[in-house]
Amino acid sequence: MSTSSAVAGATPRRTFAVISHPDAGKSTLTEALALHAHVISEAGAVHGKGNRRGTVSDWMEMEKARGISITSAALQFEYDGHVVNLVDTPGHSDFSEDTYRVLTAVDAAVMLVDAAKGLEPQTLKLFQVCAHRGIPVITVINKWDRPGRDPFELMDSIEQEIKLRPTPLTWPVGVAGDFHGVVDRRQGRFIRYSRTAGGAKRAPEEHLDADAALAAAGVDWADALEGHELLEADGADHDQKRFLAGETTPVLFASALLNFGVAQLLDVLIELAPPPGPTVDVEGGRRAVDDDFSAFVFKVQSGMDSSHRDRLAYARVCSGVFERGMIVTHADSGRPFSTKYAQAVFGRERTSVETAFPGDIIGLVNASALRVGDTVYDGTPVRFPRIEAFAPEHFATVSVTDTGRWKQFRKGIEQLDEEGVVQVLRSELRGDHSPVLAAVGPMQFEVVAARLQTEFNAPVRLEPLGYSLARLVDADQRDRLGGMSGVEVLERRDGEHLALFVDKWRLQTVLRNNPGLELRAMAAAH
Ligand code: G4P
Repeated sequence: MSTSSAVAGATPRRTFAVISHPDAGKSTLTEALALHAHVISEAGAVHGKGNRRGTVSDWMEMEKARGISITSAALQFEYDGHVVNLVDTPGHSDFSEDTYRVLTAVDAAVMLVDAAKGLEPQTLKLFQVCAHRGIPVITVINKWDRPGRDPFELMDSIEQEIKLRPTPLTWPVGVAGDFHGVVDRRQGRFIRYSRTAGGAKRAPEEHLDADAALAAAGVDWADALEGHELLEADGADHDQKRFLAGETTPVLFASALLNFGVAQLLDVLIELAPPPGPTVDVEGGRRAVDDDFSAFVFKVQSGMDSSHRDRLAYARVCSGVFERGMIVTHADSGRPFSTKYAQAVFGRERTSVETAFPGDIIGLVNASALRVGDTVYDGTPVRFPRIEAFAPEHFATVSVTDTGRWKQFRKGIEQLDEEGVVQVLRSELRGDHSPVLAAVGPMQFEVVAARLQTEFNAPVRLEPLGYSLARLVDADQRDRLGGMSGVEVLERRDGEHLALFVDKWRLQTVLRNNPGLELRAMAAAH
């Protein structure tokens, strides 16, 4: 079978990630989605909570201790004739760079908002990345079973804070805290939900027409209908073109804990989220999904757990058909790469992948040659643009405290740099013994220290530096910044020079005093 007919015959894909602030309910929603898609039969199996925590997605001691998810992987399931790939994102507010990269591998994002808290800082940051990348966003207002804000107030805040026009597809029947169901605004019907014990099973749903709805929910239905009419009068109805253009966001109301609204989310993902499309390459060409196989690496990880000590590269399939065992070309080195051990990975659970299609995420084992941003392909050569590094805002020097462990330290730093856990910056002045680490969030430093200790047995000391922003500077201009106070220039692994500044005032003064000096901003995380 030729590649193009194989892709055409593949089950359609939907690849998305959930963006949210910690505690908004991402793990609970992931679990609810898995429950609805029959991946699991009872909630608690994927991201177990409390004493049910047997969980698939944590791998590091530190992660367990904090109860957060640092790694990223993909959960794949079938739903309504489609294959859905939910790419997991790290949850902690500080540990963000990884999350940003995950967003290069998805076609849509679900923005999960806590009904009582509204838009929170991490959600806003991640939304900016989606906007920057042109990823369409579906909004889910979660925890409607608990007292929360007025739904119109939530819609206003979305419109004002992120400049997206909310177009609710459902509208809640019952105020926050008294959630019976939703108006399905496009069908004009009442979707009534019923609770199950502890929310462990899928919540039964009834679909009632307007008369039956009024009889069943009385004044709550009348209120919800009034809300729906107000939205309609205001033109807040779904428009697919504007949604895909990143101008509007369809909104759903849900309770991930009770499994309310989860089926609607799956239906909306299938109906409205875009399928995988062509991927733009370094020359500005477009690799069509039915072209020969190609994929790009968006994450590299090692030492995931003691039973699988290896290095794994997560890649998103962009075009063609992936078949385990095929020998692909690593575009960046021109070398062949064997995919004998490709796996589908969700946290600790791994299964061999035999075939994968555009939109799917594959884990390539023993991937010591692969780096974040690399391309692999078969047939017609292609190279995709590298993933941009986000502007670091936290800087610290790192040095080994036990000099007998220097070699391990050096090896560890090199590996974490390659994995993109943190950016490692060097200069002649500072030497090799205490490179500078640059991060988007300070928790990346803790991850570095913990991994150097546990995986390389290299205890380290981190000392924060007083810089707060970085700009790229061309090598031939770097000397112009030499010897200035509050400024330092260092080099990154990719050969870029970064000028660090204590604060924006220092940066402004330097620019004022050095006409013609060119400093380039890096992609901002917010
Ligand atoms: P996260 O991954 O986004 O960090 O959030 P997570 O799913 O862990 O949920 C955070 C807390 O919010 C959990 O409570 C969870 O049970 C609760 N939660 C999530 N969705 C809903 C919802 O729709 N309604 C209500 N009422 N609560 C919700 P916890 O107390 O931290 O954990 P646990 O004691 O429930 O295990």
